[in-house]
Amino acid sequence: MEGEVYYPSQDSIAKSYVQDWEALAESARKDLQGFWAERADELFWFKKWDKVLDDSQKPFFKWFTGAKVNIAYNCVDVHLQTYRKNKLALIWESEDGKSDRTFSYYSLNREVCRMANIIKAMGVEKGDRVTIYMGRIPEIMFAMLACAKIGAIHSVVFGGFSVDALHERISDSESKLIITCDGSLQNGKLVELKRIVDESLRHCPTVENVIVVKRTGHEVPMEAGRDHWFHDLCALPIANGKCTTEVMDAEDPLFILYTSGSTGKPKAILHTHGGYMVGTYTTLKYVFDINDEDRFWCTADPGWITGHSYLVYGPLLTGATIFMFEGGPAFPYPNRWWQLIERFGVSVFYTAPTAIRALMRFGEAWPNKHDLSSLRLLGSVGEPINPEAWKWFHRVIGKERCPIMDTWWQTETGMFMITPTPVVPLKPGSGTRPFFGQEAEILDEQGNPVADDHEGYLVLKNPWPAMMRTLYKDPDRYVETYWKKYPGKYMTGDSARRDKDGYFWIIGRVDDVIKVSGHRLGTAEIESALITHPAVAESAAIGLPHEVKGQAIYCFVHLKPGFAPTEDLSEELRQHVARHLGPIARPEEVNFIDKLPKTRSGKIMRRVLKARAQGLPEGDLSTLEE
Ligand code: WTA
Repeated sequence: MEGEVYYPSQDSIAKSYVQDWEALAESARKDLQGFWAERADELFWFKKWDKVLDDSQKPFFKWFTGAKVNIAYNCVDVHLQTYRKNKLALIWESEDGKSDRTFSYYSLNREVCRMANIIKAMGVEKGDRVTIYMGRIPEIMFAMLACAKIGAIHSVVFGGFSVDALHERISDSESKLIITCDGSLQNGKLVELKRIVDESLRHCPTVENVIVVKRTGHEVPMEAGRDHWFHDLCALPIANGKCTTEVMDAEDPLFILYTSGSTGKPKAILHTHGGYMVGTYTTLKYVFDINDEDRFWCTADPGWITGHSYLVYGPLLTGATIFMFEGGPAFPYPNRWWQLIERFGVSVFYTAPTAIRALMRFGEAWPNKHDLSSLRLLGSVGEPINPEAWKWFHRVIGKERCPIMDTWWQTETGMFMITPTPVVPLKPGSGTRPFFGQEAEILDEQGNPVADDHEGYLVLKNPWPAMMRTLYKDPDRYVETYWKKYPGKYMTGDSARRDKDGYFWIIGRVDDVIKVSGHRLGTAEIESALITHPAVAESAAIGLPHEVKGQAIYCFVHLKPGFAPTEDLSEELRQHVARHLGPIARPEEVNFIDKLPKTRSGKIMRRVLKARAQGLPEGDLSTLEE
């Protein structure tokens, strides 16, 4: 093989579910449906499927049609009938370290049932949408599972989003119920989630009730008739710990998750009970080799797809013990995460390159204070990992023992798509090859495959069970965005290259999606936040490379007459974006510009702004207006 290669140890091969990668890949290539049916057989179905894959209405693929199932039942109930009943399902620690809470599968069931009964008592029925907006606390997991159990569709909004983003997502989903908490802690500072909910609800007529979990204990206004403390509801007779599971069709919606796209409003990606369950279960099992002894820590927030698939659903489906931490990597000290790995004996640790780069900067002395010998496998997700960070992670954290699974996937794919398994030789910075049953291609503008080592558009050729089914309420946009450019192939929105060994190297987004510290944001959302400020006539947002964050947001603003381009105004605009869209979207810089580069038809040429900002050639300017 060419380049720098890290071969798997005999030990990691011996312990792996997949002993022979090529053989399993070959069997999936020969019989895609058979491969997935065999995996699905490991899970519980109230009724088995008539058909594994129904592709009669492409690109609206359906999986396990005719089957009856519920993902929550597979996450919780099935384990109660086994030795796992008394096994820890969840270990949680607060940011300040003052409290930790643990839940066995038995007590997880009680919590989920209680929450499910409360949600039902609020008038929520199968198919209704529920928005969940909380910090990283156990109740967010209970709320998601409770919705799934009764057949309601959850829409989790990341706690780092603010008023405008939350309002948009609540009203678009027409949620009946909001589940939130009084506040959350971020680096010791209070984030007033309930206050943000109150502001977001000013024009959301569909919302009937708000359930508020007490986390920080600070004073929050409660609107009589609408707002209810969770602990008060728990004291009522309705909140008992038993609840029957709704029997769902495999293709019934499980959740929607809003994500940023190229243009316009965020898209509501829709996932379903059956296929999503089979996809997340299988990928987690094979890629992270999850077994009963594992303590699995995924540092993502449940507000993103990684948190959905691999903090909540996947690990519970495999019956693992989940570790969940409320805080971030370096508070109060840069050894916080390493301390937690040691204290709780974490064996599989899944995080993002941005966090690794940030922690690298503090030096090796911090991790070296701790015994990290419980670790056996590491994972990375969210953006390309630079080889330097990969090697540091491998040497300093994994002690050259732990393979790194660099998993490439998307909100839309629901599960890992390009990823190693523990038996695959690794190259730092490459996600290696497509998962079993998948084939990827790199195409040029016209749809021809490009030569090895050349950059092009990354597409996926085969359907997979955890694929999004549509964009909620917008099927046309689903077809247009993902299936139009190359008919019959799924357009990922990423550029990549493939080397001579068939390994894929992701380069980055080809659209207007920005990945800031692994968080997916759209230029359109940032620009619409800016435009609500009275001084702004027009604006453009772009992402530029950033050493730690991967990408950072830069904005260009054309002011209305009468406003002076001052330093103070620039700072005010940065804060304006943070207040409206969320602190994660705060621009690195807001610069003032007399005229934005546009095409003759009036579209902003962000590409030109990007090139100018980096001092690079501006490329073809023939469409630029005078
Ligand atoms: C990027 C996150 C390189 C990619 C799971 C993709 C990655 C976008 C990787 C989806 C990786 C994700 N290597 N790039 N291992 N994982 N990406 O929807 O650009 O938040 O299109 O899903 O993240 O972001 P999303």
